[in-house]
Amino acid sequence: MSFEKEILPFLTKKCVDCHRAPYEENGKKKEPKAGLRLDAAWAIVKGSENGPVLTAGAPDKSGIYESVMLPKDDDAHMPPKGDDLTKEEIALLKKWIEEGADFGGWVGNTEGMPAGAATQAQREFKPREHDVFFAKLEKEVKPLADAVLEAAKKAGAQVAPVKVESPLVRVDFLTGVSKCDDAKIESILPLKENVVALDLGRTVITDAALKTIGQLPRLVTLDLRQTKIGDAGLESLSGLKNLHTLNLYGTQVTDEGLKHLAKIKSLKNIYLWQSKATKAGVKQLAAALPGVKVSIE
Ligand code: HEC
Repeated sequence: MSFEKEILPFLTKKCVDCHRAPYEENGKKKEPKAGLRLDAAWAIVKGSENGPVLTAGAPDKSGIYESVMLPKDDDAHMPPKGDDLTKEEIALLKKWIEEGADFGGWVGNTEGMPAGAATQAQREFKPREHDVFFAKLEKEVKPLADAVLEAAKKAGAQVAPVKVESPLVRVDFLTGVSKCDDAKIESILPLKENVVALDLGRTVITDAALKTIGQLPRLVTLDLRQTKIGDAGLESLSGLKNLHTLNLYGTQVTDEGLKHLAKIKSLKNIYLWQSKATKAGVKQLAAALPGVKVSIE
């Protein structure tokens, strides 16, 4: 999508009159409304006097989108007067934010730009990959019910949101690793849509537990360090589509097990220190998964 072709024209026409660099009118200095300028990329990234108005990947956390979606009789509806954005324009704005709010090289008015903002903004103009990834992942995920959380806690799981207001959670059993066995792992199945990070390091799970873990569709980070996990277990993970990081430090995994990992195309980091894998096995895995980083020593 092109910001300059598809977004900028209607922002300029319907928003910038009130949200532009300070100017003089009849000897009076006019400041942008709410301290928000929409006439430059760095200024949109910077936000208003109340903070950021744009979160790459998340329209529902972006003031510039939320304000146009508010009902017309709401004081914070934008624009407060003049032509509203059309349905098509709103859809374009939403799509642009969802796709990472990339300004595509458009700079805008540099007047008033703080020193250093150019480089900082340049960095921020790029889609923030991590934000976009998580915003996509949490779409359509419902927050966990209290009863579900209680049951998991009873089984020894510690459950925490990955960030404020996110339905996505990280889970560990750090308060009782020696009691965390295959049966305990089943207690997280009711949370399966929500779990993105799972730390099972030093627990007493076996390969059977990975059958359960293979059913967590949004799992991104899995820590199995210093467990009895071996090759057979890894086969159960091969259907995971979002797994980025897998820690197999100090496990029984051999080169045979790595063949199962070659099917998980989303993998970016694999830790294999003190496993039974060899450099030759790692080489083969790296060839099957371009872009993956495997640490073996
Ligand atoms: C006629 C003037 C005017 C126009 C046109 C206008 N705004 Fe505003 N905008 C305001 C005023 C005034 C406020 C402060 C409202 C308040 O504080 O209640 C504001 C506040 C905002 C805020 C909230 C900033 C914050 O964090 O407090 C956003 C976001 C915003 N405008 C976006 C837009 C967008 C997007 C458009 C175009 C679709 C637009 N505005 C068009 C006058 C305008």
